[in-house]
Amino acid sequence: MRIRQIITSQKGLSGTDVITAVCLACNLTREQVFCRMDSEIDEERLRVVRGYLDERLAGKPLAYITGVREFFSESFSVNEAVLIPRPETEVLVEVALDLIGDRKGLTVLDVGCGSGAIGIIVAKHTDSRVFSVDISEAALAVAHTNAVSLGVHEKMRFVCGDLLGAFGDGTRFDMIVANPPYVAADEWDDLMVDVREYEPRGALDGGEGGLDIYRRLVGQVPGHLVRGGHVLLEIGSFRQACDVGAMLEAAGFRVGVRKDYSGRERVLAGHG
Ligand SMILES: C[S@@+](CC[C@H](N)C(=O)[O-])C[C@H]1O[C@@H](n2cnc3c(N)ncnc32)[C@H](O)[C@@H]1O
Repeated sequence: MRIRQIITSQKGLSGTDVITAVCLACNLTREQVFCRMDSEIDEERLRVVRGYLDERLAGKPLAYITGVREFFSESFSVNEAVLIPRPETEVLVEVALDLIGDRKGLTVLDVGCGSGAIGIIVAKHTDSRVFSVDISEAALAVAHTNAVSLGVHEKMRFVCGDLLGAFGDGTRFDMIVANPPYVAADEWDDLMVDVREYEPRGALDGGEGGLDIYRRLVGQVPGHLVRGGHVLLEIGSFRQACDVGAMLEAAGFRVGVRKDYSGRERVLAGHG
């Protein structure tokens, strides 16, 4: 079968999905696929392409099929132990990088690091030392692999723990960042199948109102932040911006909000 026929005959999937499956099965770049539209694919490779397409049709996210996702122009390995990094999380990274600027030797803590995306980009673009914590050992293994492949593992420490529980009373950071699980319990059934069935529930489910982790985290942050430090939290809605903003203010922070590129409240910045 020719590549062109595979692409045009596939119903129910986007061109991106099909082209990516062909790239992966045939070890070709997108450009090579476009140049070889009339090349024949042998039976064995066709079977592999069809396997990928069947997985995609069942709802498996493309990133879990390819095993990679781009974030902040870098390639991150992902598997089903980690949330697929989202483009809107880049806004949190931008705020962090702006606040750090060219200051040297700061310590930054990424709570709930998943694939490591946030902390790794901060480590790559600043002189900071980054601590990344997650409750999932499997997620930490992915984050560590990414740190090695992006050449920043020597500036990072990976810690398994429940929020800030692994850090002693005297441990303080210049900045604490987190994209915690924030899907509200009553919105769980409305999630797309790709997300609900494939991404780890522990990375998404934020309990009642999506606020369970924020409540605990905001309670712990003041004891682990230097005076004048910053806490940056991704949030998922205007409602959460109000609720979590109020928690931060009650904990003594001055709070600012940053919207994402679709105009939704996305990052709360608490300044101590
Ligand atoms: C929404 S994901 C964010 C992953 C990554 N930071 C990103 O932005 O792509 C939340 C992460 O928090 C972790 N997590 C959930 N509960 C936690 C807890 N109590 N302590 C530490 N990490 C937790 C999950 O395992 C998951 O990796």
